[in-house]
Amino acid sequence: MTDSNNPLLELSAVSRSYPEPAGRIPVLTGIDLSVKPGEWVAVTGPSGSGKTTLLNLIALLDTPDSGSIKLDGREIAGLPEDQAAELRARRLGMVFQLHHLLPQCSALENVLLPTIPAGIDGETAMERAKSLLRRIGLESRMNHFPAQLSGGECQRVAVARALINSPSLLLADEPTGALDLHATDALLELLAGFHRDGMTILMVTHSERAAAAAQRRYVLRNGTLAQS
Ligand SMILES: Nc1ncnc2c1ncn2[C@@H]1O[C@H](COP(=O)(O)OP(=O)(O)O)[C@@H](O)[C@H]1O
Ligand SMILES: [Mg+2]
Repeated sequence: MTDSNNPLLELSAVSRSYPEPAGRIPVLTGIDLSVKPGEWVAVTGPSGSGKTTLLNLIALLDTPDSGSIKLDGREIAGLPEDQAAELRARRLGMVFQLHHLLPQCSALENVLLPTIPAGIDGETAMERAKSLLRRIGLESRMNHFPAQLSGGECQRVAVARALINSPSLLLADEPTGALDLHATDALLELLAGFHRDGMTILMVTHSERAAAAAQRRYVLRNGTLAQS
């Protein structure tokens, strides 16, 4: 059970460097970050500052050189891949700059896909998917394919897909990066709605507009985070 006084996500002294011919290049040099249940936190920083590196560590797509990453008080950095995959499927939702929808699947099928490995029964999954499609304003177009939807609509479908397994934490990497102003505002409004309903969101972005929608902000600079 998540206790609202304790952080849902807590990083301490997290470091990550990449090997280069000339030696290891440090990208993150000591990240401390804490996100409470129900918070919407934005991490900003210029291109190349390590935002995607940071999010990939939290999503268990990568392992830190050192430091601790805790979800609900449990250490998750360096989990074996099978446990990491299970945790990713059940507890984490992810949205990227590009929607990565499967082009051969309808909006509804794309939203339903993550329920299969999570073992959610078909009827429950269908109910949830339709309710999410209603929520993102695409119920009448749930049988359309990504090519028949706008970029902004596809990104909203990607948000529904990220939320279908009722994750504890929604991770978003430049979620508005490929959208025009109108679609950006529609997506931020959608995220704000899920946040009001209690969803915890950690978003990394170089967009001031996107970051301004969050409740609390950190800036990533020279490998460390500062609250702003
Ligand atoms: N797999 C990798 N191997 C080597 N260097 C990488 C790798 N991924 C990212 N980098 C480097 O790490 C730095 C941070 O990248 P990234 O996390 O993608 O930044 P951001 O998302 O803020 O633009 C950049 O200098 C980038 O070139
Ligand atoms: Mg990035």
